[in-house]
Amino acid sequence: MLLLLFSALIYGVESNIIDAKICFPEEFMFGVATASYQIEGAWNVSGKGESIWDRYTHEHPDRVFDHKNGDVADGSYYKYKDDVALMKQLGVGFYRFSMSWPRILPTGLSNEINEDGIRYYTELIEELRANRIIPMVTMYHWDLPQTLQDLGGWTNPVMADYFLDYAKVLLDNFADKVPIWITFNEPLSFCHDGYGGEDAPGGRASGFEDYMCGHNVLRAHGMVYDLYDREYRHRVKGGMGITLDIAWMEGITSSTEDQIAAETARQFMFGWFANPIFSKTGDYPAVMRKRIDANSKKQGFPRSRLPTFTREEVKMIRGSFDFMGVNHYTTYLVEPGDGKVQPHPSYYNDGNVKLYQLVDWPKTNSTWLRVVPWGFRKALNWIKTTYNDPLMLVTENGVSFEPGLKDVKRVQFIDSYLRSLHAAITIDKCRVKAYTYWSLLDNFEWMRGFSERFGLTEVDYDSPDLTRTPRQSFNYYKYVATTGCLPNNYADFTYNSV
Ligand code: NOJ
Repeated sequence: MLLLLFSALIYGVESNIIDAKICFPEEFMFGVATASYQIEGAWNVSGKGESIWDRYTHEHPDRVFDHKNGDVADGSYYKYKDDVALMKQLGVGFYRFSMSWPRILPTGLSNEINEDGIRYYTELIEELRANRIIPMVTMYHWDLPQTLQDLGGWTNPVMADYFLDYAKVLLDNFADKVPIWITFNEPLSFCHDGYGGEDAPGGRASGFEDYMCGHNVLRAHGMVYDLYDREYRHRVKGGMGITLDIAWMEGITSSTEDQIAAETARQFMFGWFANPIFSKTGDYPAVMRKRIDANSKKQGFPRSRLPTFTREEVKMIRGSFDFMGVNHYTTYLVEPGDGKVQPHPSYYNDGNVKLYQLVDWPKTNSTWLRVVPWGFRKALNWIKTTYNDPLMLVTENGVSFEPGLKDVKRVQFIDSYLRSLHAAITIDKCRVKAYTYWSLLDNFEWMRGFSERFGLTEVDYDSPDLTRTPRQSFNYYKYVATTGCLPNNYADFTYNSV
C-alpha cells in the first residue's frame, strides 16, 4: 500500500502543475477512433453478410444491457461525410476506424468480394484524404463473418488462413491509400470475453476456447505481417502493428507476494499477446506456460489447455510489428488468489490473482473503469522496459459518462491522462508517437448497448437523422489537437467557449 500511496503522490503532484505550458513533441499526432459494428449500422445493406454481433444481438437481445443492437447504430455507413466533417472541425491528424470483414467478404471467404464494401471504404478514405486526415485501419474489430463462426470461428486453426486471404483483399485495394494498419483490436477482449465469456459469439468455455482463439489470432497476425513485409511494405509506406489492451496492474502492497501477483496479472492479461510478438524470446510468457501446463495436468488432461507453437511459428510471430498499438483505460490493484486449482478450468483460475479498485478512485459510467491517470504512465514504462523500448501508438483512451453536452468530467479525464502521457514521453522517454481518443462519437458499446457514452460528440438516438452535437470535451480536444499543447486550465473549456 505504501508503495502505491507513494507513487500516487509522485504522479499526483505532477498532474497538479497547471501553470507550466505542457506541449507534445512537434511530430506527435492526435486522432480519434471508432469501429465498424459500433457505428456503421446498415447491417444487411448492399450485399453485406451477417457478423457474429448481428447474429448474437438478434438471438439474445436479453443479454445486451438495453436489449439493443448495431442494426442502425450511428448510421455512419450513410453519414460518413458528416463524421469526417466533425473530424475536420476537431482538427485531428488521423482517424482510426475498422473495416467490416462481412461487408467486404459476405461469406468470409475471398472468392466473393462485395463491391459495395470496397466502394464504401474507398469513399470514406477519399473523404478523409481530401480533408487531410490520415486513415489508420483496423482489419478486425470483432465483427467476424457468421459463416466462419459456424466453422468454429477463432477456435478453428483454419481461420488464420481465411484472415490472411481477407487481409490480402484489403491490402490489394487499400495499401497505397492507408499508411497505418492494425491487424487485430484487443485480442484479450474478443478471445476471453467472446470465447470464454458473454460477448459474441458467447463461447463461455474459458480455459479452453479463449486459449485456442488467442493461439490462432497470434498465428494469423504473424502470417499477415509476413505477407505485408514481403509484398506490400513498399506500397504502404507506413507501418503495421497490433492493438493490445493494457489495464495497469499494481501490487496492492510492496510485499514480494503482491509484486509477484501483479507481474503474473500483467503477463496473463498483456503478456499473453505481447510476449509472442514483442519479446526477444517470443512464445507465451513463462508463467502462463508453467501454470496452465501444471493446472491441466492436475485436472487430469493428457495435454496442456494452452496450445503450443511450432518453432517456425515462434520465429514468424516474434518481431512481427512496426509499432505496438496500446489501448489504456484504467488500473487495478492486485494480490495473490487462493492458489487452489479448481476441477473446472478457467482463465481466471489459471491466473489466480485478485483484482481491486479503490472506492476513492473517481467512478465513470462503466463499472470497470475508474479514473487513475498515474496508471497510464506506469503501464507505458513497463512496456518500455519489458519489450525493449518499442515504438508505441496509443490507439484508444477514453471514458464514459452520462449523456449531456457539459461533460467537464470527460475534459478532466482526458486532461489528466494526457498529463501522465506527457510525463511518460518527456521525462521517461517512452517512444509514444500518437494518442487516439475513444471515441469520436457515442456508439454501440457492445454488451452495454447505447447505455455507456464515450463520445466527444453526442448522438441523439431518438432523432430520425441521428443528430450529432459536439460536447464540451470536443472543444477541449480541439484545442489540444490543433495546438499540440494542453490548455493551462481545462476549466476554460466551458460548453459555450467555441
Ligand atoms: C475497447 C474497444 O476496442 C472498444 O470497442 C470499446 O468500445 C472501448 N474499449 C470502450 O469500452
